[in-house]
Amino acid sequence: MSIQFDFSGKNVFVVGGTSGINLGIACGFARWGAKVAVASRNQEKVDNAVATLTALGAQAFGVTFDVRQFEDVEQGFVQVADFFDGDIDVLISGAAGNFPSRVNDMSVNAIRSVLEIDLLGTFHVMKASHGYLKKPGASVVNISAPQAFIPMTHQAHVCSAKAGVDMITRNLSMEWGTDGIRVNSIVPGPIHGTEGMARLAPTPELEKSVTDSVPLGRQGTVDDIANAAGMLSSEQSSYITGAILPVDGGWSQSGATWFMANMSTMLDKMQAK
Ligand code: COA
Ligand code: NAP
Repeated sequence: MSIQFDFSGKNVFVVGGTSGINLGIACGFARWGAKVAVASRNQEKVDNAVATLTALGAQAFGVTFDVRQFEDVEQGFVQVADFFDGDIDVLISGAAGNFPSRVNDMSVNAIRSVLEIDLLGTFHVMKASHGYLKKPGASVVNISAPQAFIPMTHQAHVCSAKAGVDMITRNLSMEWGTDGIRVNSIVPGPIHGTEGMARLAPTPELEKSVTDSVPLGRQGTVDDIANAAGMLSSEQSSYITGAILPVDGGWSQSGATWFMANMSTMLDKMQAK
């Protein structure tokens, strides 16, 4: 269930906003009255996301780029700025890739892919965005993960990439603070029905064990994350910057570590079959 914020007249750009959690965030801002743009690699996903946002009553626009290609990201911002015809009030950066793999089984190209999408991609999006962000007043939210501060087996690529994402958040909160731009990270816990969860908990057994390891006793919803993005980007949060905000039912306190140890054993068994 989505709560109410007022973002009417505001321009919101969600990078990686064409499925799962990030599309849920884009839908939240659409319901709260914003003009919304989304971007990702796949044209069909971009078109479908724009149709979904339009059906919610928003003026919506999509651009197609890979966050690994800086010039394409820059060009995307030019197109989005044309569509908005004004500054960006809220920027969400959440493009990411993940698969479970131990370091010994991971090729150099595999870890490079995730570092380039999650970490370098975040840098590209931040760098390309600065000229278009509202000064003062913009809210930037990077989508992180518990792996940023909890070591997990099969996740060295994501752990290192998302730790870097959170450091970009903290550094930019200082560098951009003087422009009146706030920069925060949201750290989603296990979010039901998403690609990320399908990859980390691909069996009913693992799905149950992740739910059991959340102190609040349930997986999160995309609306839980959208509501946190709305809260962080609202006027009421105007003194919050540099925060790394877990929205995870308490999972990162200890359940995440327990689950990942369990996942590791089960994945090893599956892979041995
Ligand atoms: N285990 C180990 N290595 C894997 C892997 C897996 N499950 N899946 C992909 N890789 C490796 C590939 O083998 C390749 O390495 P190689 O060239 O040495 O063989 C490398 O990763 C890149 O894979 P490729 O499919 O060419 O990359 P891509 O750029 O098309 O896709 C990914 C990037 C791999 C991250 C892909 O999973 C993706 O697009 N993910 C986005 C969706 C997602 O992950 N959602 C969850 C968000 S948390
Ligand atoms: P998802 O549906 O796969 O979302 C990933 C989005 O990023 C898609 O829109 C995808 O679209 C886009 N994308 C991927 N690679 C890209 C690239 N190179 N360039 C541009 N766009 C790219 O996954 P999700 O599970 O909802 O995850 C969303 C975010 O939440 C991620 O940052 C993830 O790390 C974080 N997170 C998820 C969970 C969870 O439980 N699911 C938990 C913690 C954190 P295209 O394929 O069209 O490019």
